[in-house]
Amino acid sequence: MDVMVNIKIKKHSLRHFLKLNDLNLNEIYYIFQKARLIKNKFVNCCEHITLKNKTLAMIFEKASTRTRVSFEAGIYQMGGHAINLTLHDSQLGRSETIEDTAQVLSRMVDIIMLRTFEQTRIERFAQYSRVPVINGLTDDYHPCQILTDIFTYLEHRDNISNKIVAWIGDSNNMAYTWLQAAEILGFTLHVSTPPGYEMDSRKTNNIPSKIFKQFSDPYEACKGAHIINTDVWTSMGFEKENNKRRIDFKNWRVNEKMISVAHSDVIFMHCLPAHRGEEVESNIIDGSKSVVWDEASNRLHVQKALMEFLLIG
Ligand code: CP
Ligand code: NVA
Repeated sequence: MDVMVNIKIKKHSLRHFLKLNDLNLNEIYYIFQKARLIKNKFVNCCEHITLKNKTLAMIFEKASTRTRVSFEAGIYQMGGHAINLTLHDSQLGRSETIEDTAQVLSRMVDIIMLRTFEQTRIERFAQYSRVPVINGLTDDYHPCQILTDIFTYLEHRDNISNKIVAWIGDSNNMAYTWLQAAEILGFTLHVSTPPGYEMDSRKTNNIPSKIFKQFSDPYEACKGAHIINTDVWTSMGFEKENNKRRIDFKNWRVNEKMISVAHSDVIFMHCLPAHRGEEVESNIIDGSKSVVWDEASNRLHVQKALMEFLLIG
């Protein structure tokens, strides 16, 4: 870990975490400090009860394994409790509006995590919530994952600023969150997608090449990279495109040759779930460069620190 910062955080007020850049650099490092402490206690079997009797409501409008378990276990381990709602077992599935749901839930619980479709849906929810709202993934962003991925990188390497992060595959919610991270933390994001799947130029036009570069050749994008990163070719909600994407993305499978052109210190990351043999060869996930299990397990510690930050300040 590189930075131990002496940070003055302003007096606590209602904060949401809907996109990575809802946090500034100092706040990100402050959360990492908390997360390191929380993880240390966890691995040494020491209690960390800072959210006693707090209730977290989780709403999943899409499937989840890691996000569900890490948030539920996390709040429980801090002395609180979680309630899980889905479209199928709540009135959201019977057309109650997101605004009315936010008004009701936020009068009953202390913090809310929402996994949903459009970013505007979580923004509307947050607008009507009296308590902090956390983005547990939307079509546009996955900020809890990238916060954890950077924490994980810093556990393995000293510093991320001025490094190269290669993103191979779809320009999806993960890619756009990495782009926000590059702007905040000062590294260079190389993105390579198949033709027709590039990052939206309306969102990247004004970003300097020191922060973002688009490549048509995935091997070029991996050259000198300190992190090679990929994700499923078809994100949740886009399943109808699956067959076409399997053809379009076939040359964007992370393989040994991509690793071999990267920096000698490169690590491989994947938020999981992975489709082994599609976006990445199985031996890369299980290989010596891979930190995918650390990424998954760190969700627990980083999100505990995030909830503590949003609730206590
Ligand atoms: N990486 C991630 O968010 O995994 P889940 O979809 O299982 O929550
Ligand atoms: N891009 C993927 C991430 C899953 C954690 C999706 O949105 O389905």
